[in-house]
Amino acid sequence: MPNHILSLNNVSKTFYPGSVNQVEALKNINLHVEKGDFITLVGGNGAGKSTLLNAISGYFFPDAGEIIVNDQDITYLKEEKRAGMISRVFQDPKMGTAPRMTVQENLSLAYRRGERRGLHLGTSKEETKLYKEQLASLGLGLENRLDAEIGLLSGGQRQSIALLMATLKRPDILLLDEHTAALDPKTAKLILELTDRKVKEMGLTSIMITHNLQDALTYGNRMLVLHHGQIVRDFNQAEKAELTTESLFNEIQKLSLNEMFV
Ligand SMILES: Nc1ncnc2c1ncn2[C@@H]1O[C@H](COP(=O)(O)OP(=O)(O)OP(=O)(O)O)[C@@H](O)[C@H]1O
Ligand SMILES: [Mg+2]
Repeated sequence: MPNHILSLNNVSKTFYPGSVNQVEALKNINLHVEKGDFITLVGGNGAGKSTLLNAISGYFFPDAGEIIVNDQDITYLKEEKRAGMISRVFQDPKMGTAPRMTVQENLSLAYRRGERRGLHLGTSKEETKLYKEQLASLGLGLENRLDAEIGLLSGGQRQSIALLMATLKRPDILLLDEHTAALDPKTAKLILELTDRKVKEMGLTSIMITHNLQDALTYGNRMLVLHHGQIVRDFNQAEKAELTTESLFNEIQKLSLNEMFV
């Protein structure tokens, strides 16, 4: 039997129901994710990609359906209660880190993710050693900047620390929402390679939203195409390997063209 770490059963979410602005952002989503899956998620603007990750992370609750993580029904579990199992990195490097706090303080907070704030907020020598090792592994020289305020670092440096923070304490599921979209191409590649390395080394289960079709094909072992709140394509690793950016682009174009006939 497949080992599903995450399941969405008939999950729906409508914004502004009953009004002229009504948006069916998720329509009856069924998704089963196996442990260790690295899924790339593509689709046009407004397709519902971020909404899907928001439902999983508990940013808001779905209107219908259920979300199961590790056999636990978390559909209506508060966001902060899921923080120990689910971590996220957002598009904006400012979102994942606290700007007025130092690198060390940010990492220390991440290290305690999902725990009740205890009396021991100080950082032990072992922890500092761990942070230095982790920072050194980025290859950006940040291990010498533990006392620097995060807000003074570049977007790429912040995003690499955000990724480190999201994985410092092993999450069951890592959610990435266009986490390289705000970076220059070289830095974006660096962060993507770091992501890939972390996912592989730690055997993480991850869903990564991207608008870069090449990245969607290069990374991960499965790819979903979301369109108008529905999963309209689900490519496994072998099918994904057959695709080119051109053929994928054509698939996505076809979906939009079909709208003219419905
Ligand atoms: N909190 C919210 N309140 C109201 N409407 C929302 C909210 N979040 C998303 N929506 C709407 O739901 C639909 C799906 O939005 P979503 O952000 O999930 O799209 P997306 O696929 O992530 O798009 P993009 O590629 O532009 O980031 C959109 O029509 C959006 O306006
Ligand atoms: Mg989005």
